[in-house]
Order: sequence, then C-alpha cells, then structure tokens
Amino acid sequence: MKVYIVYDSENGHTEMLAKSVAEGARNHEGAEVFLHHVQDANPRDLVAMDAIIWGCPGHFGTISSGLKSWIDQLGYLWATGKLVGKVGAAFCTTATVHGGIEMTLWNLITPMLHNGMIIVGLPGNVPENVLYGSYYGVGVTCPVELDATAPLNMPSAEHLALGRALGRRVADVAGKLSV
Ligand SMILES: Cc1cc2nc3c(=O)[nH]c(=O)nc-3n(C[C@H](O)[C@H](O)[C@H](O)COP(=O)(O)O)c2cc1C
Repeated sequence: MKVYIVYDSENGHTEMLAKSVAEGARNHEGAEVFLHHVQDANPRDLVAMDAIIWGCPGHFGTISSGLKSWIDQLGYLWATGKLVGKVGAAFCTTATVHGGIEMTLWNLITPMLHNGMIIVGLPGNVPENVLYGSYYGVGVTCPVELDATAPLNMPSAEHLALGRALGRRVADVAGKLSV
C-alpha cells in the first residue's frame, strides 16, 4: 500500500510537520511512503498511490501558491478519474492561531473532493487531538519570532504527535480499503 506526501515549505515549519506525517504512515506495516517537497513531486506519480496527503504553510488564509500551482496540474488526472477512491488528508502550519488554519485545511481538502478522493481527518479518540488538535487534518501554529536572531519556532512535540497520528490513520484506512 502506497502513501504519497507532498508539501510546500519556505522555512521548514511545514516540512518538519510533513516528516512527522511520513513517520506515522511508515508505522503502518506494509506502507510504502513517498515524501516530496512540491518542487520535486511529480503529479503522474499519484496514479499508483493508495493515499495522498498534502500540506503547506497557510498564505493569506489559503493554500500557498507553490502547492496550489502543483495541484492545478492535476486536471488530466481529474478528467480521467485517476484519483477517484484514493484516500486523502491535509496538513498546514500558520503563524497565528486565528490566521486561517481551518480555512487552509478546507481549501486543501476541496480539490481532493473534486477528484473523488475519500477524506480522512483526525477523530476525537486520538488522545493528542482531543486536547489540542483539529478534525479537518492537522493544522498547527508556529508563532513568528519577535527577535530576528532567535531560533525559529518550529512545530512542537505535540504538533509532531498529531502529524504522526494523521499519517498513521491515513495509512490504516488506505490499508483497509486496498485489501
Ligand atoms: C506570503 C505569506 C502569507 C502568509 N499568510 C499567513 C496567514 O494568512 N496566516 C498566518 O497565520 N500565517 C501566515 N503566514 C505565515 C506562515 O503561514 C507560517 O510562518 C508558516 O508556518 C510558514 O511555514 P514554512 O516555514 O513551512 O513555509 C504567511 C506567510 C507568508 C510568506
């Protein structure tokens, strides 16, 4: 069972979260996981996948242009129904709690629905999620550093636990559907 993870990231926040999603998916026995920055991702690879997870930094409350441009290359796959029935999920990072996390997640999910994909979120029985997560995927806040010399505020251990939980859940669901 194959899981493809594609992400955009300018300063590494979303990349770190993407790696945790990949780690979680790899915890599912038999999962083959492909992790790519959007610049290195090939839309044609999606045809052979059972599950697709994509994520980005929220830019002005929506998908970053880097990932959106890539998603907009999926027209041929949409027209030929190649992604119908594949499992999908989304993740994002933003700088502020109310800076558009849920809108970005919804906007990431929308093209998946257009392609006939089966969306997987994170339910309330995931312990990390009921405390500080989201039901629409994984969206986390990494506040901007107030001092230019300060180290970057990267996703926390709790954020990465959510990423692992999402990856694992997607792989588990895809595994059940692909038998
Ligand atoms: C052009 C641009 C627009 C952004 N818009 C928002 C926004 O609407 N809300 C928000 O909370 N953060 C916004 N941010 C901040 C990023 O979402 C945030 O810093 C993110 O964690 C960066 O992830 P990355 O290092 O993977 O690129 C924006 C950043 C840029 C560069």
